[in-house]
Amino acid sequence: MSGTVTAVAPSNLAFVKYWGARDLERAIPRHPSVSMALSRCRSRCTVAPRPDDGDEVLLAREGGELEVAPEDFAEPVLRHVERLRRRAGGGASLRVATRNNFPTGAGLASSASGFAALTMACARVFGLQPSPEELSVLARSSGSGSAARSTLGGYVQWPESDDDLEGAAARLAPAEHWDLRDVVALVDPGRKEVSSREGHRRAESSPHFRRRLQLVPERLAEVRGAIRERDLRRLGPVLETEAVELHLVAMSSRPPVFYWSPGTLRVMEAVRSLRTEEGIGAYYTIDAGPNVHVICRPQDEERVVERMRALRPVRSVLRDRVGAGPRYDGEHLL
Ligand code: PMV
Repeated sequence: MSGTVTAVAPSNLAFVKYWGARDLERAIPRHPSVSMALSRCRSRCTVAPRPDDGDEVLLAREGGELEVAPEDFAEPVLRHVERLRRRAGGGASLRVATRNNFPTGAGLASSASGFAALTMACARVFGLQPSPEELSVLARSSGSGSAARSTLGGYVQWPESDDDLEGAAARLAPAEHWDLRDVVALVDPGRKEVSSREGHRRAESSPHFRRRLQLVPERLAEVRGAIRERDLRRLGPVLETEAVELHLVAMSSRPPVFYWSPGTLRVMEAVRSLRTEEGIGAYYTIDAGPNVHVICRPQDEERVVERMRALRPVRSVLRDRVGAGPRYDGEHLL
């Protein structure tokens, strides 16, 4: 058992979505998903042994102040800490401090980066020494499947094979392979009302879910091919189809889940008109929230940002890009 450990893990953006699970508790998906690790949207997690007391979860604020995490945030964190401690055959209680440098729970994959960073920090403090494959499986066991993808950088598929849905994530290409930009149009940075966990649970009640399962394999092949060839015109239409289909399933679930706001549609429309009126290769994707990610090439980023900022429902714009993946560092929160 070592002393204080800090891990930093990126959020990731799914090109082919994970939505609906075979086993929700263990986050076993029904098919592989593919994502891009982000560079700027990250979670930082510090863990430190707390030998004489129980586990404690703290949220670190911008200025460095720490506050006790609310129960709904702390509970899955504590369960994951306990899971990893058992896996290591025991260990001290921990103080866990975590911080996201982007809006939490707004469909920007904060659970992916948060659980990836927590898994890495706990693995080291408990002396687990997992291989990269084991690390992604441990991160997934948190209950956030997309956390498996946040343990790697660049372009990632999880699970690697559709014959082994309990398997590890694998990197399809490193970040240097293709410099894609992600302009995030925040139309509503508040927390969403229905968690993605609940969205996954309801997904199977949608009549469109079964059909989706038939369509995904071809899309996976298309996205992998587009990444290999660095072909945004091939990738883009699949991104948009996947985004719309996730929400089609969500909106037709019982009870239905509506993540979009009117601003979401305005942004989607503006992206379409950037393409049709200005010939700019920009494509949207949307996770379980109202905010829109616009994917484009570096040379088009400025114009996309400008266009997004000019839209009335867009409250702010974040600029991100494909990133190298997680790391340990010495900038502790505790
Ligand atoms: O990993 P979870 O349970 O937080 O679910 C992620 C769901 C989406 O972000 C909407 C899609 C995805 O593949 O990241």
